[in-house]
Amino acid sequence: MAATRALAACALLLGGAVGHAPAQDDVPFITTPDRVTVAMLELAGVTARDHVLDLGSGDGRIVITAAKRFGASGLGVEIVPELVAKSRAHARAAGVEARVEFREQDLFTTDLARATVVTMYLLPEVNLRLRPRLLALAPGTRIVSHDWDMGDWRPDRTLTLDVPDKAIGREKTSQVHLWVVPARLHGLWCAGDVALEVTQRFQRFSATLQPRGAPAPAVVFDGRIDGTQMTTDAGSAAQARLRLDGPADSGTLQLVQMGGAAASHAGRSFRRVHAAAC
Ligand SMILES: C[S@@+](CC[C@H](N)C(=O)[O-])C[C@H]1O[C@@H](n2cnc3c(N)ncnc32)[C@H](O)[C@@H]1O
Repeated sequence: MAATRALAACALLLGGAVGHAPAQDDVPFITTPDRVTVAMLELAGVTARDHVLDLGSGDGRIVITAAKRFGASGLGVEIVPELVAKSRAHARAAGVEARVEFREQDLFTTDLARATVVTMYLLPEVNLRLRPRLLALAPGTRIVSHDWDMGDWRPDRTLTLDVPDKAIGREKTSQVHLWVVPARLHGLWCAGDVALEVTQRFQRFSATLQPRGAPAPAVVFDGRIDGTQMTTDAGSAAQARLRLDGPADSGTLQLVQMGGAAASHAGRSFRRVHAAAC
């Protein structure tokens, strides 16, 4: 019951924030237990090279742990001023105030571009609302969410943790989901008169390699996109590996490896075209 109330309150808060309601005096917030915080940051593989952005940062614990334990820099955005003040005090007490920042700011208007890791403990509908902006981040950006997923953008990995001290829910478990933002590779790519048509759905792709006018049939291969890398599934008839170099619009898609009938195309460098054919 308490859990339902807490979540409903959080839903109200978040729903209000989506629209325009300012923060209320008794804004509810639910902390991520320490064990789950560490698991989230480990799942994202956070290191000192990362900049961690916690959307709705509460008392600052995720960003502070990222700095103190993993050496990262970070930003927490939080709509409740008292929580922002508390986060700054916690950061000072932890000795990481030089590497972290807390802003009183609406997460829906926060610029996400600098983040290499985004963390969230929000609600399913809020995650879904953020999804287009998360998908537009630089390929390879990691996103970790406590408990809630992002609909049909399936996570790359999910962990379930026992959390006896969890403040809400009967289960006393937490789920931690990780997504790695895939490069946007959907479309037609050409290397001379060799066409590579990529169909993409989040981290999954299907590609057709077709030399123009060649008597040989087109080669079709399917697999996963991991940041800027495309790798065929183990069972795929044609084994291939591709790598995006540079931005998806102006960079090149390198056919690093190609097996089977199309092996002679390995090493080709494709450029995106906005035309019907190569
Ligand atoms: C469930 S708590 C998570 C706190 C912290 N990230 C953690 O995991 O411990 C969600 C937080 O989001 C904040 N919040 C809600 N709507 C927000 C908005 N529009 N912009 C920024 N923060 C918001 C709440 O005040 C609350 O502190």
